[in-house]
Amino acid sequence: MKIILLGYMGSGKTTVGKKLARQMGLQFLDLDDYIEEKEKLSVADIFGDKGELYFRKKEHQYLNELLLRKDNFVLSVGGGTPCYGKNMETILKGSENVFYLKVPIGQLAQRLSQQKSTRPLIRHIPDGELPEFIGKHLFERSEFYNQAHTVIDCGSNEAIDIVADIMNSMQQ
Ligand code: S3P
Repeated sequence: MKIILLGYMGSGKTTVGKKLARQMGLQFLDLDDYIEEKEKLSVADIFGDKGELYFRKKEHQYLNELLLRKDNFVLSVGGGTPCYGKNMETILKGSENVFYLKVPIGQLAQRLSQQKSTRPLIRHIPDGELPEFIGKHLFERSEFYNQAHTVIDCGSNEAIDIVADIMNSMQQ
């Protein structure tokens, strides 16, 4: 079984994905980590040195590479991954268990204000402008995220409760 987690930056995909994988006895993979490993550069450096277009091409290439693998895993993809080219189609073809971790804007802004340095798209946005930026960005991206098989309303839930919600929705 391949489980794929989608969601905006800061929605907890990595934290939830690691816990979920542990509970299910599956391997955890993170597309950003995989890109960094293959390219031998951090995501921030890829954006800075080679540009976003190069990053999006590599993101597409490595997503396809991972989904062609025969083994099972929990995969967390980047916030932008489902929103470019045919990536969302690829994701839905590659897994019957695609979850969108939906987190309120205020909470995303609060979390992301602490984690800006590793995220080139929001690095230069002042904290006070983050909610408005995220609101607009999320509006554009939601049409992709909402194609997931299941939307998990994360609210202010702890990662452990989100994992339980995901596991319950798979058993139904
Ligand atoms: C991006 C999200 C990041 C990373 C890159 C671009 C985006 O991943 O792929 O900085 O376009 O939303 P996370 O969602 O894991 O932060």
